Amino acid sequence: MTSAPASSASSLRATLPGSAYTDPQVFLREQERIFESRWICAVRAADLPKPGAYRTVQIGRESVLVTRNRHGGLRAFLNVCRHRGARLCTAESGEVRRNLQCPYHAWTYDLDGRLVAAPNLSKMPDVGRAAYGLRAVALREWLGYAWVCLADAPPSFEETVIGAATERLGDPAAIERYDVAELALGRRITYDVRANWKLIVENFMECYHCATIHPELTEVLPEFADGLAAQYFVGHGALFGEEVKGFTVDGSAGFARLPKVAEAQDRRYYAVTVRPSVFVNLVPDHVILHRMYPLAVDRTVVECDWLYAPEVVASGADVSASVELFHRVNAQDFEACERTQPAMSSKAYRDGGVLVPSEHHIGGFHTWVRALLD
Ligand code: FES
Ligand code: FE
Repeated sequence: MTSAPASSASSLRATLPGSAYTDPQVFLREQERIFESRWICAVRAADLPKPGAYRTVQIGRESVLVTRNRHGGLRAFLNVCRHRGARLCTAESGEVRRNLQCPYHAWTYDLDGRLVAAPNLSKMPDVGRAAYGLRAVALREWLGYAWVCLADAPPSFEETVIGAATERLGDPAAIERYDVAELALGRRITYDVRANWKLIVENFMECYHCATIHPELTEVLPEFADGLAAQYFVGHGALFGEEVKGFTVDGSAGFARLPKVAEAQDRRYYAVTVRPSVFVNLVPDHVILHRMYPLAVDRTVVECDWLYAPEVVASGADVSASVELFHRVNAQDFEACERTQPAMSSKAYRDGGVLVPSEHHIGGFHTWVRALLD
């Protein structure tokens, strides 16, 4: 067997080695340095409609409890009882009337995390209520989601979330016109993907695969068919095909353009991303937001929300033609990622693969990951 001469390989860029997608030690460092250190989009605020509503979400190795307090504000805590460490809330979501009570020995916390009661607490003067409150987690709201950060000193939200999301948009204010926080959830689909989270990010970043696996998407967005577009950052707004009436699976008309979306943004698809785990797609009548939660080196849960004008959802209008388009794209993408994952441990991929020119920007993602892990 002969190998390719070095000169022909030198213009090509390598991917990460296969072990980056299979090694539990690499995954552990990613959890520590990325998912437990950066701002992560956790919960749609509207999923916590009133005081006492809560959701639990896995961020890195931690279970995080997000709840709404008596004044209507969102709060996040580590989902761990300060007494002997029992998981406080075991359900994915629920609602309490006033307080959060540990099911083990009944220590009780209010919705701001303060320890307010425990059996025999008055006979235990050493157990300070202030000292044994729930461990708070930093929380910010943006686009109608609660974003949380497990770091003791979180990085700047403005720079690493808002700035990062908008820097590649031709007009950084463009995303504001979709009023994402005010939109209503039309559909949510959760995908349990048997692939490393970086394979999913890399797949999102390139459209070299679009012509091969996304027949419906390339019908609606013809420029994606040439394999050169980067699905990840479509800051200029990809134009709908001439015959296409809406961002739907069959090109049929969608709903009325969202009220503040500019004329120049009509009939265009924008994609923005917030590393490490959020992808936002903006089209004139709805917004699609993906959140990723890596659960293991080879398993990632992706939650995808389709958001519409509140009156569209309230009217009971059928949103399936638009949901179906990106649901198919997701299914096609995740099937490709799942086909790739088992080969990451093959000898053939020990030194990684190749980034062709239209994938070179994936190298920037690899540089970002490497810098955080070193
Ligand atoms: Fe929670 Fe004991 S572990 S009350
Ligand atoms: Fe794709």
